[in-house]
Amino acid sequence: MQIFDGKTALMDYLRSIKTTNSSIGFVPTMGALHKGHQSLMKQSVQENGITVVSIFVNPTQFNNPEDLEKYPRTLDQDIIKISQINPDIIVFAPTVEDIYEGKTLSQSFDFDGLENKMEGKFRPGHFDGVGTIVKKLFEIVQPTNAYFGEKDFQQVQIVKKMVEKSHLPVTIIMCPILRETNNLAMSSRNERLTLQDRMDAGIIYEILTGAKEKFANSSVKETTQWVENEFNKNKKFTLEYFEIADEDTLTTCDIKIKNKKYRAFIAVFISNVRLIDTISLN
Ligand code: PAJ
Repeated sequence: MQIFDGKTALMDYLRSIKTTNSSIGFVPTMGALHKGHQSLMKQSVQENGITVVSIFVNPTQFNNPEDLEKYPRTLDQDIIKISQINPDIIVFAPTVEDIYEGKTLSQSFDFDGLENKMEGKFRPGHFDGVGTIVKKLFEIVQPTNAYFGEKDFQQVQIVKKMVEKSHLPVTIIMCPILRETNNLAMSSRNERLTLQDRMDAGIIYEILTGAKEKFANSSVKETTQWVENEFNKNKKFTLEYFEIADEDTLTTCDIKIKNKKYRAFIAVFISNVRLIDTISLN
C-alpha cells in the first residue's frame, strides 16, 4: 500500500502512474474511519482507475478547540480499514505543516449564502475551513471525481459551490448515508456515546422518518412543531435545530412550492455529543 505524508511526494507519484485516460477518484476524510467512509472508498474504486484517500484532521474547520483536541486520531487502524477495501488505494496523511506551511488560516469564501444556514450558523467559520482544505486537497490530488457523504448534505452543496466558483475540473459525487442497525447515522462521534445513548440515539432517524410522513400532508410549520414536541418529550436529547429547506438553496421555506425538492436537517445533543442527520422529504 502506498502511504504519503507529504504533498510533493504524492504529486510526483500520481504524475508517474497516471496515464491519459486513467481517472482519479478522491475521498477526503478526517480519519477515525467507519463503514460510512469505507462505502465512499468502495464507490470510488469501482468508478476510477486510481483512488486516493486523505486522512487529515483539519484544524481550520473546528470552531471549538476542545473538539479539535478530542478528535480521534487512529491512523494505524484507518490504514488497515482502507487496505480491506482495496490495497491499491493510495493514502495521503499529511501533517498540518505540510498543508498550511506555518499559516493555519482559512481562506474566506462566498458560498452565495449557503454558509450562513444550519451548520454554518451554529459553527461559525466552519465552512470557510472546509472550503479551504478541500480546495487545497483538490489542487494536490487533482481528482476527476470526488466522493462526499449525503450525511453532510450542506457540506456537499458548499463543496459544489466552491468547485463551480473556482472553476475546478472535478465532479462531486454524493453517496448515501450508512446507518447502524438502529438507523443512527454512522459517525466518528458515535464512539463518544455510551452504549445506552448510542441505542437511544436511534430515535433521531425515527423522528426524521416521522417528519417525512407528516410533511406529506402538513405544512412546514406543523411538521417542525411536531418534531420539536417529540424531542421535548425526551429529556435526554437537546435539539439544536430542525429545519426544512429547499435542497438547492438551503433556504427554509414556510410554504411548499410544487416541484421543489425539500429536505429536513437536524442537529441534536445527547450527553454533550453533537449528532447531525438529514432526510430527503419528497
Ligand atoms: P469526515 O467527517 O471524516 O467525513 C468524510 C466523508 O465521509 C464526508 O464526505 C462525510 O459526509 C462522509 N460520511 C460520514 N459519515 C458517513 C455515513 N454515515 N455514511 C456515508 N458517508 C459518511 O467531512 C469531513 O470528514 C471533512 O469535513 C472533510 C470533507 C474531510 C474536510 O476536512
